[in-house]
Amino acid sequence: MLHGSGLARHFLEIPLWRPPLKRKPVTTATLLVLTVFLVAAFTSSLWIDTSRFFIENLTNKTIIISEKPKIPIKKIEIPLICTSENQTQTCPTNYPKTFQTEDLDPSSNPVCPDYFRWIHEDLLPWKSSGITRDMVERANRTATFRLIIIGGKAYVENYRKAIQTRDVFTIWGILQLLRKYPGRLPDLEIMFDTEDRPVIKSSDYHGPNATGPPPLFRYCGDKETLDMVFPDWSFWGWAEINIKPWDSILKDIKQGNNQSKWIDREPYAYWKGNPFVADNRQDLLKCNVSDQQDWNARLFIQDWILEGQQGFKQSNIADQCTYRYKIYVEGYAWSVSEKYILACDSVTLIVQPQFYDFFMRSMQPVEHYWPVRNDDKCKSLKFAVDWGNNHKKKAQEIGKAASSFMQEQLKMDYIYDYMYHLLNEYGKLLKFEPRIPEGAVELCSEVMACHAEGLEGRKKKFMMESLVKGPSITNPCTIPPPYEPKALAAFVRRKINSIMQVKKWEKGYWESLNKQ
Ligand SMILES: *[C@@H]1O[C@H](CO)[C@@H](O)[C@H](O)[C@H]1NC(C)=O
Ligand SMILES: *[C@@H]1O[C@H](CO)[C@@H](O)[C@H](O)[C@H]1NC(C)=O
Ligand SMILES: *[C@@H]1O[C@H](CO)[C@@H](O)[C@H](O)[C@H]1NC(C)=O
Ligand SMILES: *[C@@H]1O[C@H](CO)[C@@H](O)[C@H](O)[C@H]1NC(C)=O
Ligand SMILES: *[C@@H]1O[C@H](CO)[C@@H](O)[C@H](O)[C@H]1NC(C)=O
Ligand SMILES: *[C@@H]1O[C@H](CO)[C@@H](O)[C@H](O)[C@H]1NC(C)=O
Ligand SMILES: *[C@@H]1O[C@H](CO)[C@@H](O)[C@H](O)[C@H]1NC(C)=O
Repeated sequence: MLHGSGLARHFLEIPLWRPPLKRKPVTTATLLVLTVFLVAAFTSSLWIDTSRFFIENLTNKTIIISEKPKIPIKKIEIPLICTSENQTQTCPTNYPKTFQTEDLDPSSNPVCPDYFRWIHEDLLPWKSSGITRDMVERANRTATFRLIIIGGKAYVENYRKAIQTRDVFTIWGILQLLRKYPGRLPDLEIMFDTEDRPVIKSSDYHGPNATGPPPLFRYCGDKETLDMVFPDWSFWGWAEINIKPWDSILKDIKQGNNQSKWIDREPYAYWKGNPFVADNRQDLLKCNVSDQQDWNARLFIQDWILEGQQGFKQSNIADQCTYRYKIYVEGYAWSVSEKYILACDSVTLIVQPQFYDFFMRSMQPVEHYWPVRNDDKCKSLKFAVDWGNNHKKKAQEIGKAASSFMQEQLKMDYIYDYMYHLLNEYGKLLKFEPRIPEGAVELCSEVMACHAEGLEGRKKKFMMESLVKGPSITNPCTIPPPYEPKALAAFVRRKINSIMQVKKWEKGYWESLNKQ
């Protein structure tokens, strides 16, 4: 700490207007997160950039926040310098290798959102053994590519073809991370699988003779597997179906939400998607409104080929927040659509999922979304919508809690910070010296974007749109510690209890209807 350094320190007292923490003892971490919300929610006219402050002391119901000691740093941009069309594009050799941030003490940075705690859980299988080269090599059974970072440069060895541009935009995302935090990622090798479903079965790695599980990155996991979850490609754009980078979509949806108030929206549950990827979705379609029945569901089939031919006019995501309730149902695995649905301000009705992505595990039923049964979808949907229309205030709160989560905790800065911490924690476990394998090529933003072609120019457009302009002048947020086993158990119990509670309400609702 910089005592006596002569840097100005301003003290600011924010009284808490209600005892916020009845349930359990408070950690500084939760308080910090709380403060960010209190300040953000409470003082829209008096905006305080909370990233500039940290909690100095905590006395009776008063949080004292003091300004961080800082040194002034000039933002720089790393321009994308492209060679002319007929020359082979190479990577520049003058990328900054380090960059001074303005916060001198990185540990004084705000604590990251709670979902970062799952990084520790995902890495738990290797915590005591570490990660050996043999383990990494064994992940090549299904990997799409191996990504190597050495001395801040990225290299990729391709093993198989990815679906669409999943690999391209995933690698692009990691290259942007390197631009954002130069010199801050360790040397490492990761194996990445861009297919949908997790494959590293934990049951294969039990028993006395079991080998250590291969560490494999992918977009989702489930309770039977050990695959590590990583943000999916669509955060940087899904060029095939014209879904823009997440940053742009968040802005569009925010604007859209402002124009379409919850109360003025259609009082039904909406879903639009491709039902042919999973039985679960076919089953959902049975709940559509017809002359004979109305389960409060309005369901539509997304025909991507037709929409592509029509220039995607019907599939603008920000225009799809016109219903009070929106259904999320998994496809072949988790679905990219989840974050767009949750951002709407509508109540998200989540059909009991099997898979999780990197942020979902921290969301709570009834607080952020409404749980819907998988085995009795229509009745469950009908009840959910009726309940919401009869509890409008609470329903709007649920919608708002989810959209605030998307806007605040899932903003792009945190996506990069999540990748940063996941890769750094992973790097700490490596027991071997990473090396560049034969057949790997160096990749950088220039090589990927300068001459990117295809998909009617959307590939290049989305890359330019999501390009990180230059190094961050602030440090990443501080990763929270792992869950205490008791706290994790309590968290999971709370989730299960909420779901049980809704099932009880639902049962009561149908019993009373049938009596009439
Ligand atoms: C916090 O404030 C109290 C009361 O002013 C003081 O006794 C205590 O030493 C302070 N703690 C720290 C860590 O500064
Ligand atoms: C509690 O707060 C009051 C009012 O701000 C202050 O006068 C008092 O000293 C505080 N008590 C402690 C133990 O810090
Ligand atoms: C690139 O090559 C093509 C044909 O090979 C030629 O017509 C074109 O003028 C060249 N462009 C530049 C910028 O050199
Ligand atoms: C995967 O690793 C094994 C063992 O190291 C090796 O024999 C095999 O060629 C690798 N497969 C691929 C696709 O690289
Ligand atoms: C473990 O390996 C030993 C020696 O190869 C073998 O005798 C034993 O049956 C194995 N145990 C299991 C559970 O596979
Ligand atoms: C919301 O809309 C109102 C008018 O419709 C406008 O004055 C206000 O600036 C908008 N707010 C945001 C955050 O876009
Ligand atoms: C569901 O019902 C609506 C209203 O009748 C209709 O427009 C829509 O096409 C139906 N969806 C499906 C998948 O049949």
